[in-house]
Amino acid sequence: MFSKVAARSFSSSATNAYKVAVLGAGGGIGQPLSLLLKLNHKVTDLALYDIKGAPGVAADVSHVPTNSTVKGYNPDQLKEALTGADVIVIPAGVPRKPGMTRDDLFNTNASIVRDLAKAAAEYAPEAALAIISNPVNSTVPIVAEVFKSKGVYNPKKLFGVTTLDVLRASRFVSEIAGTDPVNEHVSVVGGHSGITIIPLFSQTTHKDLPADKRDALVHRIQFGGDEVVKAKDGAGSATLSMAQAGARFTGALLNGLAGEKDVIECTFVESPLFKDEGVEFFSSKVTLGPEGVKQVHDLGNLSDYEDGLVKTAKETLIQNIKKGTEFVKQNP
Ligand SMILES: NC(=O)c1ccc[n+]([C@@H]2O[C@H](COP(=O)([O-])OP(=O)(O)OC[C@H]3O[C@@H](n4cnc5c(N)ncnc54)[C@H](O)[C@@H]3O)[C@@H](O)[C@H]2O)c1
Ligand SMILES: *[C@@H]1O[C@H](CO)[C@@H](O)[C@H](O)[C@H]1NC(C)=O
Ligand SMILES: *[C@@H]1O[C@H](CO)[C@@H](O)[C@H](O)[C@H]1NC(C)=O
Ligand SMILES: *[C@@H]1O[C@H](CO)[C@@H](O)[C@H](O)[C@H]1NC(C)=O
Ligand SMILES: *[C@@H]1O[C@H](CO)[C@@H](O)[C@H](O)[C@H]1NC(C)=O
Repeated sequence: MFSKVAARSFSSSATNAYKVAVLGAGGGIGQPLSLLLKLNHKVTDLALYDIKGAPGVAADVSHVPTNSTVKGYNPDQLKEALTGADVIVIPAGVPRKPGMTRDDLFNTNASIVRDLAKAAAEYAPEAALAIISNPVNSTVPIVAEVFKSKGVYNPKKLFGVTTLDVLRASRFVSEIAGTDPVNEHVSVVGGHSGITIIPLFSQTTHKDLPADKRDALVHRIQFGGDEVVKAKDGAGSATLSMAQAGARFTGALLNGLAGEKDVIECTFVESPLFKDEGVEFFSSKVTLGPEGVKQVHDLGNLSDYEDGLVKTAKETLIQNIKKGTEFVKQNP
């Protein structure tokens, strides 16, 4: 096998050795995500960064016997963590504290993502970015704005991770239909919160679900996160299922970079689909390739019901995207 450096000097894609950086690796998602990435054989260099605790997570994960290097980085080592990264995964955030308003909550994560994006634009401008930090509907536009302001924005390399919605869709429909979720492939399009999450069951074998069952199923997928928040009773939101979703998406990105065929995931990207209506980012099926986005697929045939959901989602997304863009303009 070529070493990464040698392979790169001949071709930009023919390699199976990648550096992946996780920013927020000490968190509820970051820790299990780091473990799952340690198990991915394409990841040869795993860089774990957080404002606290990353070296501990790195030491722990590094004992898992796969052939990769794991290193933890302290707050003053962000540059080292990012340099040479092929993929940067961002699950950083700060949970709600007593007295925080909705706006405070938004501004906290928005500032974190903005600052990490600035560092990424400087030290790893060509890396693919997978954004997990919520609200994804606004944090992805924030990263785009930062990269644009630094003159290094490449829309083919920026992804909002919506994979958890896809996992929930296949799991929840399997529970109703009595099938194996492994065989359930449901496209989930639109955005990544509440009513903007649109599973396309009309394109599956479940297109004839009675309307009441279908509505309940779609609602459960849209608000599945609430089930976890409630069950954890104040101790956080989805972390383990989200780690699995993040690892699956990162794995797909790497398979695409490596030039594997037909790597398709639903993800929130800068999208041509509804750009003429003012919706700059949208989630749909995307083929992933050596350059990142290879093809943004259109939605395919929709039922009237799904058509209605898409219409509402577009209106909401225009506002959410604007909120992200405005945030960076006002807080550069
Ligand atoms: N995309 C999705 O489907 C999805 C699902 C669940 C949660 N989330 C989001 O993922 C994010 C993380 O959730 P969590 O439960 O792991 O939260 P968490 O609070 O447990 O972990 C966040 C981590 O980020 C770290 N952090 C804070 N500021 C940082 C900075 N400037 N640089 C690097 N690291 C920093 C914290 O120290 C902490 O370890 C949240 O924004 C959450 O809303 C997304
Ligand atoms: C394992 O890692 C070492 C050191 O990076 C490398 O030389 C070797 O080729 C790797 N082995 C495999 C099977 O990838
Ligand atoms: C910001 O991230 C934290 C996790 O660190 C999460 O609990 C919170 O919900 C996020 N805020 C928003 C507005 O999504
Ligand atoms: C986008 O995310 C933010 C924070 O979660 C939320 O306030 C907003 O309502 C979301 N979009 C939707 C579902 O309208
Ligand atoms: C979409 O619907 C049209 C018209 O009913 C049909 O011709 C076409 O084959 C459908 N496409 C897919 C992908 O199912």
